[in-house]
Amino acid sequence: MSVQRMRAWRVATHGAPEKVMVLEDDVPVPEPAADQVRIRVGAAALNFGDDLLCRGTYQLRPELPFTPGLEVAGEVVAAGSEAGLSPGTRVMAVPALPWGGLAEYALADARNAYVIPPDLPDTDAAAMLIPFQTGHIALHRRGQLQPGETLLVHAGAGGVGSAAIQLGKAAGARVIATAGGAEKVALCLRLGADVAIDYRKDDFVAGVREATGGEGADVIYDPVGGDVFERSRKCVAWQGRILIIGFAGGEMTQAPMNQLLFRNYSLVGVYMGEYSHRERPFLDEVHQEILDLYREGRIKALIHARVPMTDVPAAIAGLAGRATAGKVVIQVGEAGD
Ligand SMILES: NC(=O)c1ccc[n+]([C@@H]2O[C@H](COP(=O)([O-])OP(=O)(O)OC[C@H]3O[C@@H](n4cnc5c(N)ncnc54)[C@H](OP(=O)(O)O)[C@@H]3O)[C@@H](O)[C@H]2O)c1
Repeated sequence: MSVQRMRAWRVATHGAPEKVMVLEDDVPVPEPAADQVRIRVGAAALNFGDDLLCRGTYQLRPELPFTPGLEVAGEVVAAGSEAGLSPGTRVMAVPALPWGGLAEYALADARNAYVIPPDLPDTDAAAMLIPFQTGHIALHRRGQLQPGETLLVHAGAGGVGSAAIQLGKAAGARVIATAGGAEKVALCLRLGADVAIDYRKDDFVAGVREATGGEGADVIYDPVGGDVFERSRKCVAWQGRILIIGFAGGEMTQAPMNQLLFRNYSLVGVYMGEYSHRERPFLDEVHQEILDLYREGRIKALIHARVPMTDVPAAIAGLAGRATAGKVVIQVGEAGD
């Protein structure tokens, strides 16, 4: 039997996405293992991690050559004997590398795939999974955010930041956002932030202190790290929680332990990817709550642009270069919208 072929972005050596990504037309369609599904990709969403994957600096280093793409929505077209999902089911999923989402077909472990309803288009679904699951786990399970508390969200116009603003408001928090530039600040306010600060221009520590009567923020959502993390320690409230989400700024810093002790605040690590191994039933609850909030019109992925397959490397470069606000969605199949 001849192997079906597909169009897919491939990376054969590590480097900048625009240099190392090649769009091939004759890639073999992968076969799912017993606990996997093959998905016909309708839409894929880009993540900061796609840039790092191409460069070989991400926490996952798939064997070369591989197809990047960490977030998809589409239809299951083949399923392994233990996958528990039937062909024809629509899902949003985190693909199993090396068969990522920037291709006509991707593989996903069934534990990383979530059934989606007919009224949720592929473009919205693909852009929701990682930002909203990360935000939900971070704010609720890890951050114990309470109604009436103040939440500070850094990079509030970014993929994960824009979701955290919306989830924070839905949870009844008062939300302060930071972002780079006037347009991104305006976007944060449109997403529901009560206060938004241009942290490339203004001192957010002073802004947060002023907005909280000197108390500081109870929960800080930090996908940036580096200097932004350093300064967050200066405006975290007594008994506050700083959520360590990522290091988009490139730098991993350290905190003095005596400061944590005397000021009674916590540094809380958040890694969404680990939950599907350990607590899939919990993620099913999270998924349901996210779908309910979407149906109620209280959350929606902020989509920066929908771009065709051919424009992927430039789109990843734009994301890594801070030129995007919200998610970039790649329209892969006909069901892309
Ligand atoms: N822990 C988890 O489970 C988890 C899950 C998903 C993502 N993440 C991490 O969260 C971070 C954000 O991911 P994302 O996909 O949502 O990206 P993104 O927020 O859409 O883009 C990153 C944003 O970070 C800000 N930024 C600040 N300094 C930057 C710098 N030196 N270079 C580039 N960007 C900088 C930029 O916003 P401004 O221009 O407004 O500053 C930029 O738009 C990444 O580190 C990612 O690995 C973690």
